[in-house]
This record gives sequence, structure tokens and C-alpha cells, in this order.
Amino acid sequence: MSFFLMKPKIYFNSSMEKVFIESRIEKVCIITDSTIKQLKLVEMLEDILKKLKVDYFIYSDIELDPSVESIKKGIVHIVKKNPKWIVALGGGSVIDSAKSINYFLNKLERETFMIAIPTTTGTGAEVTSYAVLTDRENSLKIPLKDEFLIPDIAIITDEFTKLLPKNVIAEGGLDALTHSIEAYTSKQGNFYTRVYAGEALKLIFKNLLVMYNDVSNAESRLNMAKASCLAGISFDKSGLGINHSLAHFIGARYQIPHGKCNGIILPYIIKYNSKDLETARLYRDISKELGLPAKTIEEGVFSLIKWIEIMKEEMCISKRLRDLGIEKEEYMRLIPDIIEAAKKDICTAGNVRDIENSDFKRLIEELY
Ligand SMILES: [Fe+2]
Repeated sequence: MSFFLMKPKIYFNSSMEKVFIESRIEKVCIITDSTIKQLKLVEMLEDILKKLKVDYFIYSDIELDPSVESIKKGIVHIVKKNPKWIVALGGGSVIDSAKSINYFLNKLERETFMIAIPTTTGTGAEVTSYAVLTDRENSLKIPLKDEFLIPDIAIITDEFTKLLPKNVIAEGGLDALTHSIEAYTSKQGNFYTRVYAGEALKLIFKNLLVMYNDVSNAESRLNMAKASCLAGISFDKSGLGINHSLAHFIGARYQIPHGKCNGIILPYIIKYNSKDLETARLYRDISKELGLPAKTIEEGVFSLIKWIEIMKEEMCISKRLRDLGIEKEEYMRLIPDIIEAAKKDICTAGNVRDIENSDFKRLIEELY
């Protein structure tokens, strides 16, 4: 049975004040983190809520790569104040935390609604049914997936990305790029998911380096916000692949930011998956859509990899894991654990090409 669920309601080019009025928001809990507070971005929201005379409070005790414990802490704190709306303002960690908190509040029969306003351009968390939590004790990522994790409303805007540092732009862009490519080729994908992923790729192609080189360019910021959102819609329905499975474990173990880890791995995964002819054709189709040389399948795959490598170089992203100062012997010893974790990861099922332990081993060695 094939279907394509559409949620949330997505506002773009819209005034936040009008969105809040139309949604009749009340008793708001703003969930954010200390960085967003320091940058005074949260004040923009506060000003609107004050003007509309809406009661609100702020919960900003959100950590980067949220742990299960921090979610529990958030729920205990927030449930006492009995909000009606959760408004998440932040990057992937903030939105994933808010989605988890909102989800469990509803399980506790507190009927809350959620608005997600992303302040980075990569995760697509504002439109997905995933939330990634971290088990610190065992250095593991725990991806939750449930339709009820999807926010009710997402607001896509360039208002909050004016001050994004270059490394965050690069990491977000590479995450959105990996989402698009894995979604486009996923064996669980379909016509609709490829349309969204294809449009996301075109936007990334035209805007990522523009935004990276000049963050004051508002058009590129909005286009990257749209790309991240489109890629999110796509991979939410198609699943991802082994790029993400490997990045979940390796990123958690060596504390590499998610998008950066994905970006380092991406060319190697394309090389591996393109040994399958059907998949290679899909990579060629992507190159064609982007206007890259793609007369033959081989040329199309080659062009796609070259484009990614050039972008990575321009954004100072390492070619291999060894460039991050990861110790070789320790990494090689870890291979069986990486394989075990990657095989169990929720994303592996979406990978286009089946993967045996021996392939995994070779691939993981190559990444180094
Ligand atoms: Fe991702």
C-alpha cells in the first residue's frame, strides 16, 4: 500500500504575528537553547507574544544532542506550568527536544500543539516524524519515529539565520544534501519523495555556497530553509540509508557534528551504492537535474561525486575521518561495533544496496 502523508501546515514568507493570530495560540511555552537566547533571537518572539497579550514562559535548558535525561527534566519542568502551545525556536537539537517533550505531554493527556521555527538550515526536523536522542552512557543515538512527533505547524523564514556561523551553514547544508540524496535513491522512496528530494537538491545546488560565502544574502538563506524543509518532507516518507546509519554511530562516538560527519562519508557511500546499476542510474538522474555532465551513467555518478567534493573543499570539510585526528588503531578496533550498530540502525533498511559485513568493513576502512 503506497501513501504520502502531508503534515504539518507550512507557513513561508508569512509574518509570524499573523501566523500566531490565525492559529489562536495561547499559554505558550517557548523551547529554545542558551545560544539562541544569547543572540537575543528569542526576543523577537517575545515581542510578538507581548503585543498579542499571549501568556508565555521560556524553557531554555536544552542541550546539544539532547539526552533522554534532559527530555525527562524538560517534561517535569514544563508539565507543571500546563502550557497549551509549544513553540520551538532553534536548530535540530531544540526542535527534536521540543517534539519529544510535546509527544510525551500528549501521552500524559495534556493536549498541547506545537509550532517549529528552525534557526538552522539542514535537519528538516520541523517537518519530520523523527527525533534523535542520545544515550550518553553508551554513546548511542536513539532515533524515535512516530507520526505524532510531527509538529502541527512549521514556519520557514530567513529571519533567524542572519548570524549563522560558516561551520553551521556548511554542516546544515551537508545534512540536507545527504537527506536529499539518500531519499532520492532510497528503496522505500516513490514518485512523491523523489519530487521533493529533487527540488531540494536544485535549491542546495544553487544556494548553499552563496549562503556560505555571504550570509547576508537573504534569498539564499530562505532558499536553504526551503531546501532543508523539502528534504525533510522527502526523507520522512522514504527513509534514509547507510550514510546516516554510519554517521549516527561514528558521529556519537567521536563527537563529530551530524552534518559534517554525513558530508565526510557521502562520496564514499555514493561510490559504494553506484556499483548497483539501478542506483547508479538514479545518481545520474540527479546530475542531469542539476545540469552536471551526465551523458553516460558513469559520467553522471562521477559528476555528482566531484560536485560534492568541490563543495566540501570550498567549505573546509575534511575528506576523511583521519583528518579529524581520530586515532587509527582505535578506529580499526571499533569496526565490528560500527558494523553492529549500523546494521541495527533504523536508516539501514532504506539503503538501496544490500550490504554484507565484508562490504561494511571495507567501506568503514575507506572512510578513514
Ligand atoms: Fe541527518
